[in-house]
Amino acid sequence: MDFSRQRKPDKTVCDINSVLEECVALVKNQALFHNIQIIKQFDRDLPMAVVDPSQMQQVFMNLIINAVEAMQHSGQLILKTYFNPFEEFIHIEVLDTGHGIPEENMEKLFDPFFTTKEAGHGTGLGLAISYGIIKEHKGAISVESKVGQGTTFHIRLPVRAVEEHVDE
Ligand SMILES: Nc1ncnc2c1ncn2[C@@H]1O[C@H](COP(=O)(O)OP(=O)(O)OP(=O)(O)O)[C@@H](O)[C@H]1O
Ligand SMILES: [Mg+2]
Repeated sequence: MDFSRQRKPDKTVCDINSVLEECVALVKNQALFHNIQIIKQFDRDLPMAVVDPSQMQQVFMNLIINAVEAMQHSGQLILKTYFNPFEEFIHIEVLDTGHGIPEENMEKLFDPFFTTKEAGHGTGLGLAISYGIIKEHKGAISVESKVGQGTTFHIRLPVRAVEEHVDE
């Protein structure tokens, strides 16, 4: 996975809900999204995270585009954030009602160049890069899927650590 590690994150105190909101604003008027219902379930009390906002945007955009491509242009895209005060993580979920992922592909998803898209439509780097970015942020990314029903990607990111020094 070293391959997919790009530049070091340029971390700043950041509201993940706003980053997701920007992603929605970027895509919602695109043709691909015309018959997609985008449902935002944001935790309004989500703590700040210390992240690189442009890298987070890159991760979320790839998950959103993947989700919409899996829905073949119609369905529901749910973007969810939540926080449990007993944990040190914030949670982000991207759910779709798309075609799902067959069991045999589940282990390969985060491999560089794994794609089921036609030549010219995907390089298979989106999830590999996302994995690298989330790892650099000391978070985790995982997936659950049911063929014919849909897919959920789950990300957890550490909440702002008190001892962490960042410029504000
Ligand atoms: N939400 C999803 N539903 C169904 N399959 C998915 C979903 N997200 C990813 N996949 C599967 O995982 C593969 C790898 O995804 P990844 O984002 O890494 O590459 P890609 O989308 O094919 O290409 P790229 O992101 O480089 O344009 C996809 O080709 C697809 O088969
Ligand atoms: Mg992709």
